[in-house]
Amino acid sequence: MINIAVVGFGYWGPNLVRNFSQLEHCTVKSIVETNAGRRSTAQKLYPQIPTMPSFDAVISDPHIDAIVLAVPVSAHFPLAKAALLGGKHVLLEKPMTDSAEHARELIDLAQRQQKVLMVDHTFLYTGAIKKIKELTSKGEIGEMQYFDSVRINLGLFQHDSNVLWDLAAHDISMLEYLEAEPIQSVVATGISHTPNRIENIAYLTAYYQSNKIAHFTLSWTSPVKIRKILIGGTRKMLVYDDLEPTEKVKVYDTGFSMNSEDSTNSYEERNKILVDYRVGDAYIPKIEMGEALRGMAADFIRSIREGTEPTANAQSGLSVVRILEAADRSLRNRGQEVMLT
Ligand SMILES: NC(=O)c1ccc[n+]([C@@H]2O[C@H](COP(=O)([O-])OP(=O)(O)OC[C@H]3O[C@@H](n4cnc5c(N)ncnc54)[C@H](O)[C@@H]3O)[C@@H](O)[C@H]2O)c1
Repeated sequence: MINIAVVGFGYWGPNLVRNFSQLEHCTVKSIVETNAGRRSTAQKLYPQIPTMPSFDAVISDPHIDAIVLAVPVSAHFPLAKAALLGGKHVLLEKPMTDSAEHARELIDLAQRQQKVLMVDHTFLYTGAIKKIKELTSKGEIGEMQYFDSVRINLGLFQHDSNVLWDLAAHDISMLEYLEAEPIQSVVATGISHTPNRIENIAYLTAYYQSNKIAHFTLSWTSPVKIRKILIGGTRKMLVYDDLEPTEKVKVYDTGFSMNSEDSTNSYEERNKILVDYRVGDAYIPKIEMGEALRGMAADFIRSIREGTEPTANAQSGLSVVRILEAADRSLRNRGQEVMLT
């Protein structure tokens, strides 16, 4: 049995407590929350779980094996470091840390302490992404040409990170999971409409050495909620609409090819470039419908008990943070290209 403490019972923490409480081989032993009002909410919902204001109490408790951190991003690094130094396994919320340097330091420390360090990239555990991974791995859509994601709604403004760090963390984790080629450079722009100057709208483009491209549209200030990803391949294209209740993924046997006739003579002939469009059937693959967070929590407990590598491992967390950091630098310089490789 793995005993855990969940730290932070704000917006996301309750989802973690609920999922870990329902798992086999795991007991939620304490909830740590600095805010008295949130502590009393936790107590009402989970009268059997002790709540406490101090993180130090769980670090020094030898009965606690693992710490789950659902605190604001700026608190991820100091609390994760203290937990690892205290000999605990650590699950961090996304994004892993506020800098790549901090993420690397935690990875080194976890290795030295021989503890599991994992990041909650929840979307990697959705039925949709598992199915897309299965399809792309077996070459169903061919070579990826583009990844185009829109994640916008009237969202919760974070007070210590901008919309890029908050929302693009999801999309980058999915892209990195599906595409092995490393991103070569990024270009990002964005704007803040609030006095704290934290960007609430951002646009990010990622370039590759090969002719792939990825683009992300992110906003906390859209009147409508859209969570849609288009992936174009050399053979087929697919659409992942996370808001669809069941038919979240559609695969289109759609493509194009260019046939350029010998066109060196006249203007008309040069324009005889023929685009062949192929519009074939579309199908809807069956996807698993369980709660993604349950799968993520189970992966964390399994990796502690069995020594397996979790899907959302610390290296994938670092990779996402490196890209976000580069994107943030580009955004501060009005879209200057920032190299990653
Ligand atoms: N995986 C996902 O889909 C997902 C969704 C939402 C948020 N998140 C992540 O979860 C984390 C928390 O986000 P949130 O929206 O719940 O924030 P929040 O501000 O609503 O909640 C954070 C809570 O942590 C508490 N807290 C802060 N410092 C603490 C400390 N030292 N000890 C104990 N409690 C402390 C605060 O009082 C607050 O109640 C962030 O990293 C965020 O990116 C992930």
